[in-house]
Amino acid sequence: MLAILGGSGLTSLSNLEGIRQEVVRTPYGEPSGALTFGTLAGKPLVFLARHGYGHTIPPHRVNYRANLWALHHVGACGVLSVASVGGIRADLKPGDLVLPDQIIDYTWGRVSTYFDDENTPVTHIDFTHPYDEALRATIAEAARLAGVELKVGGVYAATQGPRLESAAEINRLEHDGADLVGMTAMPEAALARELNLPYAAINVVANYAAGRADSAQGIQLSALEPILREALGRVRRILECLVEAYQPAAQ
Ligand code: HPA
Repeated sequence: MLAILGGSGLTSLSNLEGIRQEVVRTPYGEPSGALTFGTLAGKPLVFLARHGYGHTIPPHRVNYRANLWALHHVGACGVLSVASVGGIRADLKPGDLVLPDQIIDYTWGRVSTYFDDENTPVTHIDFTHPYDEALRATIAEAARLAGVELKVGGVYAATQGPRLESAAEINRLEHDGADLVGMTAMPEAALARELNLPYAAINVVANYAAGRADSAQGIQLSALEPILREALGRVRRILECLVEAYQPAAQ
């Protein structure tokens, strides 16, 4: 079963059928909300709204450990994150969908590992390729089948938020090699890897990053909502093809 972690703009999946909700308790506290189970194109799916169903949990307060643990606990064998970002790379414009392949982590003070118990041996995970390659390939194929343009590849800069960045910070991120900027991929991707849970993301470009193009003088927050609403219609089309094509890897 595939899990969808929905971000800003994706607090529910309107095309999900046979919906059932389940509250899952975890050793790490409360997930962002009850898990929503249902079927899409006849295939089972579990959905969780990362910021809560009322969109009340800011990125630095999301209980990433509880969210990933809960999805793993109910039998998810892969997690697709849908999350909005700012576009840094010149060809990334509002409304674009991106399948990132790398991450740079600028977050701080977030609980970012399951391996912090004094009694467990020190454990390092391999994170060379933070997103699961097989899941990425399936998503790219699903987008092709759905006839939806998806830009493949990009370096995601994870910032702390909840404020947006300064123009100089965006210049620095670009200098570091970042193509897009968001606030939630870390520690989410690393925790998924610690659980051995394949993880990939579709990022929706909501705005030009601070100081770029239309955002030269500031980011117009009121303009983001209609862009996200339209783009998420395309994401839903990809999801329908994705759940149909999805074959969990043997673990
Ligand atoms: N920066 C960080 N996170 C974001 C942005 C941004 O410009 N847009 C949407 N999420």
